[in-house]
Amino acid sequence: MNKYIKIIEVGPRDGLQNESIETSISWKVELVDHLTATGLKQIEVGSFVSPKRVPQMAGSTKVFDGIKKKNGTSYSALVPNLKGLHLALEARASEVAVFISATEGFSRSNLNCTIAESLATITEIIAVADHAKCPVRGYISCITHCPFDGRVNPLHVASLCERLLDIGCYEISLGDTIGKASADNISTLLDTVCAKISAENLAGHFHDTNDNALANVATSLAFGVQTFDASIAGLGGCPFAPGAPGNLDTGKLVRFLEDKGFDTRINMQMLAKAEAFVSNKINSKNHQPYGRN
Ligand code: HMG
Ligand code: MG
Repeated sequence: MNKYIKIIEVGPRDGLQNESIETSISWKVELVDHLTATGLKQIEVGSFVSPKRVPQMAGSTKVFDGIKKKNGTSYSALVPNLKGLHLALEARASEVAVFISATEGFSRSNLNCTIAESLATITEIIAVADHAKCPVRGYISCITHCPFDGRVNPLHVASLCERLLDIGCYEISLGDTIGKASADNISTLLDTVCAKISAENLAGHFHDTNDNALANVATSLAFGVQTFDASIAGLGGCPFAPGAPGNLDTGKLVRFLEDKGFDTRINMQMLAKAEAFVSNKINSKNHQPYGRN
């Protein structure tokens, strides 16, 4: 039997937060329903952050209210603080994701706080989430390069991973926020991180600026990473990281993994429908699916 690789769809959050297109709640609901139909086991539906800072994510409660949930699929929400967690719990998110930066520059830009303050907030979030039996996933941004602080020390990322697992995140998604990491950079990072924690607790979150994301997936697979984030039609980026482009295109990742003999359990016909639904709306310049041309 081929080895299963889990794909976490982050398009409705990481994708749409950085697209300057008009989206309605009903369109977002339809998008998530299309994604559910592909067989994806985890979908990040939206975020509960300051609507002044990320207006594209306003209305996430209504999106959660509108979607048709399928048994066995997890519908998650990104939250920066306790206020966000309470909104996510009220919206009946299956789980939440917290986020921290490996660098002070991006921490200030994205969350308006230091790394230490961010860790304190995440500790508070996890205490309340635990009580509500809500699993918490953790993101670390700027794992190799920061748009403000430059190159990042792998030892620092490794100790943040340990810290987040210690305080209760079940998995750490390693974010190449601006898509600058080469396969060599990822290899050096994972050498250091995997010396401290198991690759089973890691996921790859590779933005695809320089078309390096698949090489970074291949490198991560060799270290035993079995979970990757991706964004339908390569949507998005981060509004607070200059130069951050879309995340790795879900279709490109699925085709790459299936070509390599891995099992993604994604229905390709339904994936093509979801891609077409998004591409019609966005007319995405990123959309050049792997293995299609
Ligand atoms: P702050 O600027 O320090 O100010 O915000 P605040 O805490 O006083 O809040 C400002 C206003 O936001 C207040 O409203 C709060 O009530 C409200 P006002 O009094 O001005 O009317 N507010 C909220 N509203 C809704 N939900 C909330 C919430 N919290 C506060 N949860 C804060 C600090 C963290 C809230 C803000 O900086 C923020 O929302 N940042 C989030 C930025 C963001 O969403 N970035 C993109 C996602 S991260 C990413 O893309 C990276 C990732 O993909 C991995 C990777 O690629 O590396 C995950
Ligand atoms: Mg991202």
